[in-house]
Amino acid sequence: MDQEKIPPSFKLERFFAKYEFSVKHLLCCSDAEAIQMTDLIARADEECKTMWNNLQLSYIESTGHPLLRAEICKLYPGITPEETQVVVPQEGIYIAMKAFMDTFVKDKPASRPHVIATFPGYQSLYGNLELDGADVTYWKPQYCEDKGWEFDIGQLKTLLKPDTKLLVVNFPHNPTGWQPNHQQWQQLIALCKERNIYLFSDEMYRLSNNTETEALPSACTLYNNAVTLCGLSKTFALPGLRIGWLSTKNKELMEKFQSFRDWLTICSSTPSEVLAIIALRNKDWVIEHTMNIIKTNLTILEQFLKKHSDSLEWHRPDASTVAFIKVKNKVLKQHSGSVAKWCDYLAHHAEVLLLPSTAYDYEDGFVRIGFGRRNMKEALKTLEKHI
Ligand SMILES: Cc1ncc(COP(=O)(O)O)c(C=O)c1O
Repeated sequence: MDQEKIPPSFKLERFFAKYEFSVKHLLCCSDAEAIQMTDLIARADEECKTMWNNLQLSYIESTGHPLLRAEICKLYPGITPEETQVVVPQEGIYIAMKAFMDTFVKDKPASRPHVIATFPGYQSLYGNLELDGADVTYWKPQYCEDKGWEFDIGQLKTLLKPDTKLLVVNFPHNPTGWQPNHQQWQQLIALCKERNIYLFSDEMYRLSNNTETEALPSACTLYNNAVTLCGLSKTFALPGLRIGWLSTKNKELMEKFQSFRDWLTICSSTPSEVLAIIALRNKDWVIEHTMNIIKTNLTILEQFLKKHSDSLEWHRPDASTVAFIKVKNKVLKQHSGSVAKWCDYLAHHAEVLLLPSTAYDYEDGFVRIGFGRRNMKEALKTLEKHI
């Protein structure tokens, strides 16, 4: 087999595959505590109850159930069901990147399209493009001891090349939880418009703002060449449904998404789509479930990190279910200066799982902590014995 063609390891997913179902206290998950199916079904309106009770386990529309797409569109003023494609979230990234590359390469065969992507980040957001031969420049956040993480739009401008084709962003950002303010977001959109750059906006953590910040308007509602990815895995606390969507006003891209999906899952799971309709019709209740957990956990976490500020340093993130915390020398020196070694040690000896920054191929010295699960108090109590 051609070694060059074997996909590189998806480091974060391999890390979770190793530990997620064996370590007792998961303290780095990006999903919120999942909603119970019985609780969700209890919220179904008459139409959904009938659909659920009479559900035939057949194939479903490849673009997604019309009622589901209608609910999704309520999140995005001006977006129609025809401008929305239901996908598995991870599949959505794959499909979108294939569609972008297809567009760029058809425009200019044998070229290496230039792309800028937020980094560190969920690996498929830049990895798919790298695998397909794009020239990817990373847009990295700065870490400031007094302010925490921040992506600088001024710096983004310096990364642009005359032929930059695509900007890939993920705000609220996994793993830092940072999101731009409204003005910065508008600047970023304006930059893409001005330079005719496509925008892929991973908004999987949208609507999870835990500070004074508000959710940003989705990219697909602001720019015709923007694609929004969102789904039910994070803020909506339903990762097991495997339901997400791509929304864009760009008709050509939408047609490509549909074509590429035919080579992958073809259509979603029918029961998942019905449950997704119920969830979106009860959006406020679902989000409140997640936000209540996040708010409680952030208070606990804040106290814990204050107490252990000689070992760990953080700044409360704007949104999302995760923070990227600095690990200080006091801890690192006991583990040969490596967060990966500390995390392995914790997994084996403390039954606590933290995600090392090296799983993102990012510099050593940070860990991702997740605060969307109900186990926070217990997990921190155990962690405390090992810092
Ligand atoms: C930023 C981001 N995008 C996409 C995904 C993929 O979501 P899913 O695992 O539900 O396919 C994740 C998962 O962690 C993520 O963090």
